[in-house]
Amino acid sequence: METLNIRSGEFQLERLPKIKNDTLRGWDAADELLIETVLTDYSHLLVTPPLIANDSFGALALAFNEYSVHSWSDSFISHLATTHNLSLNKISASPVLIPSTKEAEGKYDLVLIKIPKTLSLLEDQLCRLKPHIHPETVIIGAAMSKHIHTSTLKLFEKIIGTTTTSRATKKARLIYAQNDQKNNVVSPYPKTIKDESSGINLQNFANVFANDHLDIGTRFFLETIKKHLNQHGEYAEQAPNIIDLGCGNGILGIAAKQLIPHAKISFTDESYAAIASAKINYSNETIDKNTDDAEFLMSNSLDQYKGDTPDLILCNPPFHQAHAVGDHIAWTMFKQSQQKLQKNGELWVVGNRHLAYHIKLKKLFGNCQTVASNKKFVILVATKNKK
Ligand SMILES: C[S@@+](CC[C@H](N)C(=O)[O-])C[C@H]1O[C@@H](n2cnc3c(N)ncnc32)[C@H](O)[C@@H]1O
Repeated sequence: METLNIRSGEFQLERLPKIKNDTLRGWDAADELLIETVLTDYSHLLVTPPLIANDSFGALALAFNEYSVHSWSDSFISHLATTHNLSLNKISASPVLIPSTKEAEGKYDLVLIKIPKTLSLLEDQLCRLKPHIHPETVIIGAAMSKHIHTSTLKLFEKIIGTTTTSRATKKARLIYAQNDQKNNVVSPYPKTIKDESSGINLQNFANVFANDHLDIGTRFFLETIKKHLNQHGEYAEQAPNIIDLGCGNGILGIAAKQLIPHAKISFTDESYAAIASAKINYSNETIDKNTDDAEFLMSNSLDQYKGDTPDLILCNPPFHQAHAVGDHIAWTMFKQSQQKLQKNGELWVVGNRHLAYHIKLKKLFGNCQTVASNKKFVILVATKNKK
C-alpha cells in the first residue's frame, strides 16, 4: 500500500483489483499537479461540489473529500476503489458516484478531468458536460504529457472553447479550457456499426472496446463459436448457462443466444458503457428482444456473479487496465472461471498467440486444447475436471 502525500493530508491508497506484489501506484504526477493547483488557485470554488471525471482509484476524491465530490467514471472498479480508499482512511464522506452512461448533476463551478485512455470517452464526456457548466466554470484537464495529444486539445477547443496547457511538472501537464464555444456539439455516442459478415448491427457507447469496428480477434472467435456451438449436442436439450465475461458490446453472448435460443446468457464487464451497449444490442439482435431473460452485471471479473453454475464461459480477456499493460486481469478471469464452472463446463478464450494463455489455462485446469488458430490468434478451450 502506498501513501499519497499532499497538502490536504496523507492518505493510504490501494489499486483495485488487489494484486500480490503490485508495484504500481494508484495515482500519478498528473493527480498531484492537479490537486496542488486546485488547492493553491481554485480552493474558493470548492464551496460547491466539484465534478471529477475519470479518477483512477480515488486519489482526487480523497484529496477533496470534504467537498461532496461528484465522481463521473466509466469504470465500476474505479468507483469501488474510491469507496474502498475512503473507508481505508476512515473518511465517512460518500461521494456521488455517477456512471459514464448517466448525466452529471446540476451546474458545476469546478470540473476536473483526468484525461481518459480513449478519445471517444473524452469526446462524449465533454459534449455531455456542456449543459452542466456556465461561462465562469473552471475546467481543468490533467494527464501525463505523453498522453496529451493534438487531438486531445482539439476536442477541448471544439467542444468547450479556448484551450491552453500548463508547463510540464514531473512529466505531467494541465489543460485549461474556457467555456466560450457557443455551438453545442452533440455526442455521437452511442454509435451504430454494422458488421457486414454477420449482419449484426451494434450500438456502441463511448469507451466500448473496438468502438467503431469489429475487433479481428472477436471476429475470429465468433466464427469459431458458430462452428462449435452448432455441433455441441449436449446443449440441444438442457438450457445452458453461458457467461460472456468482459462482454464489451455483448457480441459473443449475443451470438451464443442466436445459436442456442434457450440458453441463459449473463453479460459481465467493469465498464458501464459496455454493459449499456450489451443490453441494447441484446434487445435489438435476439429473437424475442427480451432483456429480462438475460443478466447484465457490473463486476470486476466474476466477483458479483451469483447466478447458476455456468456451463460455458466465453472470454476475450483485456490485456491492460487503463494505461497499465499486464495479464493480471486475464489471470483472475481464468481462475474465477475455473472456480465457478460446473463439472465438464468449458472456458473458451481468444488471445493473441504471443500472450501464451495456454500455459495459464493448463496450470489452472490441467488441460487446454487449441480449437482454432490463425497467424495472429488462438482459440483455446479448457474444461473443468476433465476425465
Ligand atoms: C478485449 S475486450 C473484449 C470485449 C468483447 N468481449 C469482444 O470480444 O469484443 C475486454 C473487455 O474486458 C473488460 N474488462 C476489463 N477489465 C475487467 C475487469 N476487471 N472485470 C470485468 N471486465 C473487465 C473491458 O471493459 C472490455 O470490455
